[in-house]
Amino acid sequence: MSLSIIGKSINESVTLKLNEVAALLREKGEPVIHLGGGEPKSRAPLEALTGAAAILNSGEIRYTPVDGIPAMKQAVIRYTEEFYNKRVPPENVIISSGAKQAIMVAMQAILNPQDEVIFPAPYYVSYPEMIKLCGAVPVPVFPEDGSFHPRIQDIERYCTSYTKLIIINSPNNPTGIMYSEEFIAEIVDFCEKRGLYLMMDDIYHRLIFKRTKPINPYDYAKDHTENSKLIIINGVSKVYAMTGFRIGWAVGNRKLISCMSNIQGQQTSGPSVVLQKAAIGAINGIQSCVDSLRITLENNTKVMLEQLNAFKGVKVTPPDGTFYCFADFSSYMKDSKKLAYTLLEKVRVITVPGIEFGLDGYLRLSTCGTIKEITEGIERIKWTIDPNSPNEIYIGQRKLVRDWI
Ligand SMILES: Cc1ncc(COP(=O)(O)O)c(C=O)c1O
Repeated sequence: MSLSIIGKSINESVTLKLNEVAALLREKGEPVIHLGGGEPKSRAPLEALTGAAAILNSGEIRYTPVDGIPAMKQAVIRYTEEFYNKRVPPENVIISSGAKQAIMVAMQAILNPQDEVIFPAPYYVSYPEMIKLCGAVPVPVFPEDGSFHPRIQDIERYCTSYTKLIIINSPNNPTGIMYSEEFIAEIVDFCEKRGLYLMMDDIYHRLIFKRTKPINPYDYAKDHTENSKLIIINGVSKVYAMTGFRIGWAVGNRKLISCMSNIQGQQTSGPSVVLQKAAIGAINGIQSCVDSLRITLENNTKVMLEQLNAFKGVKVTPPDGTFYCFADFSSYMKDSKKLAYTLLEKVRVITVPGIEFGLDGYLRLSTCGTIKEITEGIERIKWTIDPNSPNEIYIGQRKLVRDWI
């Protein structure tokens, strides 16, 4: 069949595929533990639900302005003022169908074929594929010291005359690591000096454990004019547990936002008014839901770390935020895809192979589930790969006997 070169080069979204696999197995009554998920389990905030219900009740669900309804833009303006100490006019804001679309249209507005995009590894699975969709070239940068903390020297080394954009995602998916304030200051300065676009994917910025305030890149910017190439990406998916509502946004210079709106207008049009009303409810509503999610995640992470630390041979850097632990299982199996499939097949535990984020030998484990799911999930993993664990395990009513190691 004749398909496009770009189309053929794009990989399936592994994380979304795993959700499908988990759902199918659960439907068959299999005792699945899903440690691969990237979405909190809490309910959407009440104000989000009432906001959506009110507009649904009106029965008047129409097209929206391409770049978002005015009330949603106002909510983002207020959010930006609160968390970034910056007042922006509506022309500097675009609302998209998820942070993913905001990232994608920003890339389409910025990148020409052959342009290079730098981002630290391990990285969010979709960056390389989105960059390839623009015909551009993904350039992952592995910190030379083997840590999860990129250094400006690492980035600089990969910068060429083709580099157009740098993406920073902190706290990071999949490691949960928050990059230092010093690094953020350096990267903002570096991009300004080189005239590069800097995209801050801040989708997890309020899900941090120790700091009360997220790092604000604008604090280090010298250029606060319409020439600024700093782009902030955010959304309601993670912080408000509203992944299915598909609302995200970008804040950037007026020309860029206008170009992004033109692109979005020819792709999907403006995001659904029902979902924007829900997002407005969440952003303007009582924020205790974010605190309680953060506290739950911090507690779950503690439990996950205790379980992993008791697991001889597994190494894990404690995350600073998000709902992921990125654990090194290479002393058991170097091929992370093989390991993830073994765990799925033998004990019905879903994990995401590290290779999807650019680093083999690791698994991304999610802390979004219950404490029971976390402890039982890790126990099943241990039983599968650790020859020192007892030879038998009960999964539900089923007794399994290990005969492969
Ligand atoms: C780093 C990062 N950026 C963006 C997204 C996309 O978020 P949204 O659900 O708003 O499209 C995700 C979702 O997993 C993510 O982890």
